[in-house]
Amino acid sequence: MIASAPRRAAIEVRPVAGALGAEIAGVDLSRKLDDATIDAVIAAFHEHLVLFFRGQRLTPEQQVAFTRLFGPPMETPFVEAMEGYPFIVKVLKEADERNVSTFGNAWHSDFSSLAEPPLGSILYALEVPEYGGDTLFANMYAAYEALSPGMRRMLDGLRAIHVGKPYGTKYGPGKELRTSRSIGIERNRPEADLEVSHPVVRTHPETGRKALFVNAIYTLRFADMTEAESRPLLDYLYQHVTRPEFTCRFRWTPGALALWDNRATLHYAVNDYDGSRRLLHRTMIAGTRPV
Ligand SMILES: [Fe+2]
Repeated sequence: MIASAPRRAAIEVRPVAGALGAEIAGVDLSRKLDDATIDAVIAAFHEHLVLFFRGQRLTPEQQVAFTRLFGPPMETPFVEAMEGYPFIVKVLKEADERNVSTFGNAWHSDFSSLAEPPLGSILYALEVPEYGGDTLFANMYAAYEALSPGMRRMLDGLRAIHVGKPYGTKYGPGKELRTSRSIGIERNRPEADLEVSHPVVRTHPETGRKALFVNAIYTLRFADMTEAESRPLLDYLYQHVTRPEFTCRFRWTPGALALWDNRATLHYAVNDYDGSRRLLHRTMIAGTRPV
């Protein structure tokens, strides 16, 4: 036996849908992973865009350590962090909170309104309803590749303006919106109104593949166009990218962890579990300026 032969990582990758998403078995994320396992997880991340790990038992420190495997962790702007853990947000809805808006309840890529949006995000489930509260994901490579050559060519040349709508003064929810009291979201922050321009089609820095990069929460309009002019095509794209063929749906179980790539996916948190308590710990991985 040659001592320097690379060790085969013993992870099992089971795709959950044709478009994206895979469950990874055989990894205990509370331990320090060896290099071969880390390489295998990162390769699966680039191939499947969303990875799911079940039955984990993670302290906040261990979740942050896992987050660091993919890049520097970043603080979540405009959302209160967990006491003593600046990189962790508690995504919580209590059982007695009914008819309230929840965090992530529309298709989006996390904080695409930042000049350098997070590369990826991680959610770890502590308490989940017996059913309901699923998270949906959409593959933005597949959505781009399914467009006609003429549409792709046109979009390739466009940029879009993104704004932190939910947190700013101009586009935030009205006072009539009942929001969950269990997550500390800051509203009416002028710095969230800052307009950031990103390419409508971005090239993934690791895979070199092109992905659509617009979403209903943060994208305001195309650059150098009005909102009214932009609306019809943006609406078409939002409808197109969330076709069931481009998506997968994750059913949470206690101890499940999801890691997704914000550069090539959108996600949607389904708010269909009034009457149940749901608690997850969320971290984000710092990213680079989209190109
Ligand atoms: Fe999100």
